[in-house]
Amino acid sequence: MNILVTGGAGFIGSHVVRRLVTNYPNYNIYNLDALTYAGNLENLKDIESSLNYTFIKGNICEPDFINSLFIKHQFEGVIHLAAESHVDRSITDPMAFVMTNVLGTVNLLNAAKIIWNKNFRDKRFYHISTDEVYGSLGKTGLFTETTAYDPNSPYSASKASSDHFVRAYGETYGLPYLISNCSNNYGPYQFPEKLIPLFLNNIINKKPLPVYGDGNYTRDWLYVEDHARAIDLLFHNGENAETYNIGGFNEWKNLDLVKLLCRKMDEKLGRSPGESERLITFVKDRPGHDLRYAIDASKIKRELGWEPSVTFEKGLEKTIDWYSTNEQWLNNVTSGKYKEYYERQYP
Ligand code: NAD
Ligand code: DAU
Repeated sequence: MNILVTGGAGFIGSHVVRRLVTNYPNYNIYNLDALTYAGNLENLKDIESSLNYTFIKGNICEPDFINSLFIKHQFEGVIHLAAESHVDRSITDPMAFVMTNVLGTVNLLNAAKIIWNKNFRDKRFYHISTDEVYGSLGKTGLFTETTAYDPNSPYSASKASSDHFVRAYGETYGLPYLISNCSNNYGPYQFPEKLIPLFLNNIINKKPLPVYGDGNYTRDWLYVEDHARAIDLLFHNGENAETYNIGGFNEWKNLDLVKLLCRKMDEKLGRSPGESERLITFVKDRPGHDLRYAIDASKIKRELGWEPSVTFEKGLEKTIDWYSTNEQWLNNVTSGKYKEYYERQYP
């Protein structure tokens, strides 16, 4: 089976690629990635010479290239993760999000529709989405698969739009699809612009920890390998034309989480208690900041038996260990040096 994974050099994509390459030696895994600032082939160093793995540098915004790729490799399955994924960047440059998240997704849908040519047996287009499409919750309640879409940021609006296109291709052309909407992921290989890796990096370097607003915003956190396991399970066993929510049953207010990171890092780095907390700096709030996300992940548990396997305690410990011992990765990413890896690897 030839499977296309898009965005496989990014944070979640690299965990998905590693899992598929390792667990399914009979599959050919093609990782298509444009290597934007968020794509880093160092994330996949350990599996890059596997016989069932191929990296393809390319942009999902280029329809002719995408069509030719589908014709050449006759993909039977697509797991689509490529996206612009950072909310703050979407506020300063919304058009990049429209291009990749909306147009790029439609290009992939068109290519799948053309090459599958109504022969949809054993084919699947799996679109990876986010809980942010549902908008913001108040102090109570959970997002379910039937919660109405209500996106508030250019990022979530672009993801919502791509979800609608995927569903529309299913309804209109019969394209076999599946969508999952997940909460905040954390773990190794996450680019240090998102809350947890940014703050770990800043704590290591004794730099200010910029908490937006009063820090009373709530997110649900899931260890990235649990997300990759859910994606594997859904790709193989999820129902066609269905949506599944994925979450960690693990809500944290930002400020409480940041204080926890500070305490754990003080212990790890042998600093005196309270040292890192003094780095907390309250800064201007994010415009349109969603107050709270929380996921009802009972459908995937009921239908497929999936639930998080890594406790937050354990997941944070692994993440902190990883960022503390992979200083070179962190330095390469923050200095931009990681971009040289591609040139060396694929001269
Ligand atoms: P990421 O930013 O770390 O990785 C995105 C990858 O896509 C990068 O490797 C980048 O080079 C690639 N890419 C970007 N534009 C491209 C283009 N035009 N053509 C080809 N490749 C391109 O993102 P992530 O955090 O790993 O998220 C992956 C997916 O999961 C996204 O679709 C995101 O919306 C979704 N998601 C993320 C989270 C989270 O907490 N990070 C939660 C739920 C859903
Ligand atoms: O919910 C899933 C989404 O989670 C994914 O779809 C997105 O791709 C992913 O980026 C993430 O979005 P968030 O906006 O929730 O993640 P971020 O790490 O940017 O921010 C988490 C919370 O921390 C949010 O309330 C904003 C706050 N924050 C973030 C940063 C970067 C700060 O207070 N300071 C910061 O410097």
